[in-house]
Amino acid sequence: MTSPPSTWAPVPSPRSAPESRPAAGVHAVVVAGARPNFVKAKPVLDALESTGMRTSLVHTGQHYDEAMSGVFFTDLDLRAPDHHLAAGSGSHAVQTAAVMTSFETLLERLRPDLVVVFGDVNSTLACALVAAKAGVRAAHVEAGLRSGDRSMPEEINRIVTDRLCDDLFATSPEAVEHLLREGAAPDQVHLVGNVMVDTLLARCADALARPVLADLGLRPGGYGLLTLHRPANVDDPATLTGLLVALGQIAECCPLLFPAHPRTAAQLADRLPAGIRLIGPVGYLDSIALQAGASLVLTDSGGIQEETTVLGVPCLTLRDNTERPLTVTEGTNQVVGRDPAMVVAAALEALENPPPPRRPALWDGHAGQRIAAILARTLPAGTGAAAPQRGEFRSG
Ligand code: UD1
Repeated sequence: MTSPPSTWAPVPSPRSAPESRPAAGVHAVVVAGARPNFVKAKPVLDALESTGMRTSLVHTGQHYDEAMSGVFFTDLDLRAPDHHLAAGSGSHAVQTAAVMTSFETLLERLRPDLVVVFGDVNSTLACALVAAKAGVRAAHVEAGLRSGDRSMPEEINRIVTDRLCDDLFATSPEAVEHLLREGAAPDQVHLVGNVMVDTLLARCADALARPVLADLGLRPGGYGLLTLHRPANVDDPATLTGLLVALGQIAECCPLLFPAHPRTAAQLADRLPAGIRLIGPVGYLDSIALQAGASLVLTDSGGIQEETTVLGVPCLTLRDNTERPLTVTEGTNQVVGRDPAMVVAAALEALENPPPPRRPALWDGHAGQRIAAILARTLPAGTGAAAPQRGEFRSG
């Protein structure tokens, strides 16, 4: 594994909010399409605006229900989108194409200086591709994550998005290494920390004040939280059956609360073992409150691996790999796979001997400000739709 060059260094913590407004006149389009994007967009949007940039928030419509989208805008105090593309659900190609088609038209009209995309969902890839072909500078927040598992649609989205974007903002040293190894130029890559943690730290007190535990009759430390939505876990009947057997055994000693994604709810019908309580998807604040109160979290989500690390709650990831290894080496996460006996053994051990809480460096609540400061410094106003000043990718 290659190391970052000796000249490379993490971006320092901002001392305070920028006093001047160095980016007045710059227009940034910020794209959010699915649940985890909303959480990441909020701190970046606020920080970009504090530099004087004009921002347009684009909702692609990949997630559209009140429970998957609307509640996040309320919980995060995220302003209503300036543009809604209404892409909706569909196969990967249909959904990606729907976002691309609408976003291309919008970009032609707006001609911004910058497009910012987040994470690894289909909307991320779609908008990065449109921006790159339109010659608009594109920034990827949460760049460089790699699971090494190309059967995950998100892994394809990550690889292609990073290849297309000009500015690559990473949450961890491993992510920086992946980007440099794949040929990104060092001046494209910035270790800035984790914007999801910015939101978590900003909203934690509000989340802990929510009445959701009492409303559900739960006692702090008296339950486990379960989330499952990855196609590899819920779309394959044999895998899902094995997981349900294991989860049923865990629920015998630790009752499990299961806020289910629509994809999962559709697969489960009446198959849940006793001790597992199914509820609908929860909003952001309730999700944080339920994680914080749990004695154990079992999940296949990416963001929840990070949130449990910051909250110091033991997390078992029901996958064979993670694109977020920092949550294992410097957090409370353990990747346990899908083998029922292994899952049960790991859960019982985590309940008996919870790992000590730790927090990775730079996961400190200031990642959005670091991103905005870098963009404001390197993005002169009026560059909209000009050829981007990008470091060239080498073949690799
Ligand atoms: C998407 C992301 C995944 C992310 C997850 C967060 C991709 C490839 N996947 O997966 O990385 O972890 O969001 O939740 O982008 N549906 C609704 N209401 C909605 C949205 C979706 O009922 O508001 C249902 C539809 O039946 C849809 C299914 O959920 O077909 C899947 O939605 P989709 O956006 O395609 O993928 P997710 O599984 O949500």
